[in-house]
Amino acid sequence: MTIALIPGTFDPVTFGHLDIIERAARQFDEVVVAVVAAPAKPAALFDADERRAMLAEVTGSFPNVAVEVFGGLLADYALARGAAAIVKGLRAVSDFDYELQMAQMNYRLSRVETLFMPTAPEHSFLSSSLVREVARYGGEVSSMVPPEVARRLKERFAS
Ligand code: COA
Repeated sequence: MTIALIPGTFDPVTFGHLDIIERAARQFDEVVVAVVAAPAKPAALFDADERRAMLAEVTGSFPNVAVEVFGGLLADYALARGAAAIVKGLRAVSDFDYELQMAQMNYRLSRVETLFMPTAPEHSFLSSSLVREVARYGGEVSSMVPPEVARRLKERFAS
């Protein structure tokens, strides 16, 4: 059984992430969406449990997709889960330098390959931080995130 790991912060999950998850689920026996517990970035809007719960809701219809929270090094987690590959979406050339560096580091640490998948062009401008910013000021995000996520964003910024 080949397992692919799709790691990320997912603060929150967008249609761009979902597209990558759905396409990877067609290529691998099992896909594990790995939610980083403590993101390297400034404080997350949603805690790890909330980010996991949103992903579980929106990937519930894919029978071979599981959502898990991990801490520590991704390379160690990939080895522990027996992953054949780490799958990442590339939105534009600007993603490439950083992604290449991470892929090479993860390979050095674990010998697990990273496979890049081009993000669907209709989602290539999307990022979680932009979605958060639009939602924070009351903008419409329903074409960028699933309805459950849009609802949670609305609730978070109303409080
Ligand atoms: N569609 C839409 N947006 C996408 C996307 C897609 N297909 N793919 C990535 N993005 C966006 C995300 O929304 C996010 O946007 P933001 O910066 O506005 O929040 C951005 O791309 C970066 O994604 P993120 O999920 O934060 O991933 P990352 O590439 O920065 O890496 C981990 C996150 C978890 C993979 C990485 O930090 C990690 O491996 N951490 C564990 C510790 C470790 O092993 N460190 C050494 C790594 S070599």
